This record gives sequence, structure tokens and C-alpha cells, in this order.
Amino acid sequence: MAAGLWVALSALRVLFLLLCVEPWAEGGKVLVVPMEGSHWLSMRKAVQELQARGHQTVVLAPEVNMHIKGDDFFTLKTYAIPYTQEEFEDIFLRQSHLIFESEHFLKTFLKTIIILQNVSAFYQRSCASLLYNKDLIRYLNDSSFDVVLTDPVHPCGTVLAEYLSVPAVYFLRSIPCELDFEGTQCPNPSSYIPRLLTRNSDHMTFLQRVKNVLYPLALQYICSTSFAPFASLASELFQREVSVVDIFSYGSVWLFRGDFVMDYPRPIMPNMVFIGGVNCANRKPLSQ
Ligand SMILES: *[C@@H]1O[C@H](CO)[C@@H](O)[C@H](O)[C@H]1NC(C)=O
Ligand SMILES: *[C@@H]1O[C@H](CO)[C@@H](O)[C@H](O)[C@H]1NC(C)=O
Repeated sequence: MAAGLWVALSALRVLFLLLCVEPWAEGGKVLVVPMEGSHWLSMRKAVQELQARGHQTVVLAPEVNMHIKGDDFFTLKTYAIPYTQEEFEDIFLRQSHLIFESEHFLKTFLKTIIILQNVSAFYQRSCASLLYNKDLIRYLNDSSFDVVLTDPVHPCGTVLAEYLSVPAVYFLRSIPCELDFEGTQCPNPSSYIPRLLTRNSDHMTFLQRVKNVLYPLALQYICSTSFAPFASLASELFQREVSVVDIFSYGSVWLFRGDFVMDYPRPIMPNMVFIGGVNCANRKPLSQ
């Protein structure tokens, strides 16, 4: 009799505990603002995992895009942009392969500038279509998201997160022009951190170090033309002066799709987390 009562009491206690715990175990609401192309393919895996862990995810994408299609593990929300599918494919598919051609660096550099300008003009116009879409902004604001998960390489999701006053978590490989270092106020010595396009390693001769210092100056031009329009978009929206670095600094946590097996050593900050393993979600065994 006593044992029976004890069992019943234990069961009640467990039920009570479950009732208490259940509301805390409830998932969060995540707004995902991905980047097009291959960037989305690794983020998609993270979104799938979020859903598996009980979070609700809404993925926001322009109507015209490459890989971001609806799926059963997220809600897809699209918005209209002033581009047709043909214009979009022209910008991305026909030009982007040029980046991977190995030619004289000056030629690669000039081509890269033109492509980047064209691609960022596309993103700025899409971003403005998103931020000035009153119905969509009202819907997003009313949805009270807990967090915005975004790839900041084109920082529209970041501006959106700040506009909605929701914290942002970045999911990225890197941002050109050391903006990831500046946005996190991370030390960034030119003496051993190889700069983009230099093909330097972390061990440099004197001349390689000179190259390492000079290349970023030229890249600066590309980045200011690529990112400055987002700063003016944000300044207009927030009615105050917003710089490019201000935009990137909004991120609370930076998830880097990198790993020091593949990357050279560098200083990091406490809000930087390296998650290179997500790139191996779809793996094939090596051949003999
Ligand atoms: C951008 O792309 C469009 C479409 O391919 C092209 O007509 C235009 O000349 C390009 N602009 C630049 C600056 O390359
Ligand atoms: C979101 O809603 C709040 C409360 O109604 C409002 O104060 C705020 O201005 C809205 N934000 C945007 C971006 O519309």
C-alpha cells in the first residue's frame, strides 16, 4: 500500500516536473536571412538542425534566387525585387566563374572589382526592396523573433535585425577588407595574417609583408563601393549616421565556417566561434 502510494507520488512528481520544464524547453523563433548560392547550402543544414531541436525558423529570400527553395523544415517567406530571373542569372552565373580563373593578378583584380560592384548593386536594390516593404516589415515585427541568423557578406540581414531590434548571429566564411576584425575589434597584425588575394602564408619574407600591407589598400576601394550603400541605407532608415563598421558590429555572435586545420592562425575574440565542421555535413569517403 505504502509502496503503491510512493509510486503514485513519484509519478505525480515526474508529471509536475515535466509541466514545469516544458515551457522552458520550448524552441525559439529564428529569422534566417541567408546569402545566395553555395553560402545557403551550408546554412540550410544549420536551419534543419535548428528545426530538429524544436526551434521555429522562417527563411527570408528574394523571389528571384538560385537555391533557396521551400522545404518542410522551415517556412519560406519571399519578397519581390526589381530583377527578372534572366538579369539575375546573368549577374551570377555568367560572371562569377571569372573569379576562379587564375590569370595575372591585376587582371583578376580589375575583373573582381567589376563583378563585385555589379553583384553588390544587385544586393543593394534587393535590400531596399526588403526594408521598404511595409507589409513584410509589419509581419516580421509582429512575429517577435528571438534572433536573426544571417550571413553578413551582404549585410542586409544585419540592417534588418537592427531595424527590428532583434539580436543578430552571423554565419559566415569571412568578410573582405578585415571588416570581421573591425566589427569585433579583434587584433589584426599584418605581420602574419595573410591578406585576401595575396597568396601569402603566415610566414612571410620582407617583400611578402610589403605586399600584405599594400593589397588591403587597393581592396579598400572595392569594399567601400560594395558596402557604403548599405551604410547609407541604414542611416536613412535609422535617421542617424551609420558607418559600415557600425553595421557589422551589430552582430552578437560570429559563427565562422572555418577551422584552423584549413586556415592560418589568427587572433580571435570571445564572441567568435569556429564551426568549420558544418561544411562536412554531406561527406563522401576518400577514395583509395
Ligand atoms: C552589370 O551586369 C549587367 C548585366 O550583365 C551589365 O549589363 C552591366 O554592364 C554590368 N555592369 C558592370 C559595371 O559590369
Ligand atoms: C515594431 O513594433 C513596435 C511596437 O508596435 C514599434 O514600436 C516599432 O516601431 C516597430 N518597428 C518597425 C521596424 O516597424
